[in-house]
Amino acid sequence: MVQRTLSIVKPDAVKKNAVGAVIRCFEDAGLRVAALKMLHLSAEEAGRFYVVHRERPFYKDLTSFMSEGPIAVLVLEGPDAIARVRKIMGATNPRDAAPGTIRALYAENIERNAVHGSDSEGSAGYEIPFFFPEIEIH
Ligand code: CDP
Ligand code: MG
Repeated sequence: MVQRTLSIVKPDAVKKNAVGAVIRCFEDAGLRVAALKMLHLSAEEAGRFYVVHRERPFYKDLTSFMSEGPIAVLVLEGPDAIARVRKIMGATNPRDAAPGTIRALYAENIERNAVHGSDSEGSAGYEIPFFFPEIEIH
């Protein structure tokens, strides 16, 4: 099934000049960039994006990290895009990430882990319109 998923190049990876490298990983796997832009979230906006994690102990640090600098946000489209993007990203903790995955290559630690990808159709349905009106998705 052709799906759309939301990905973010997080502030740590933007600082490392890895925006292009991250997008390259997705494009090389056959995923299509359907929308793309950069922005700098406030802590409040980062908190709304990650609202599902609001009770977690890492929530405050996460919202502060995600608002420390600019991010690149993109919509990726392709067959089974949600699960495929998760596989290309690698595990949340880079110590567990398979070799060659984005997180194995670019993540610093479990928090500063370079990239985000929607984890289900439900979360993609919240996350894509959080950043992109339909008219900006191609
Ligand atoms: O991003 P992913 O879906 O792999 O992981 P998550 O469990 O949904 O957590 C969201 C984000 O919170 C992670 O990508 C990390 O940046 C951060 N996190 C953290 O700082 N400490 C943890 N123990 C777990 C997640
Ligand atoms: Mg998640």
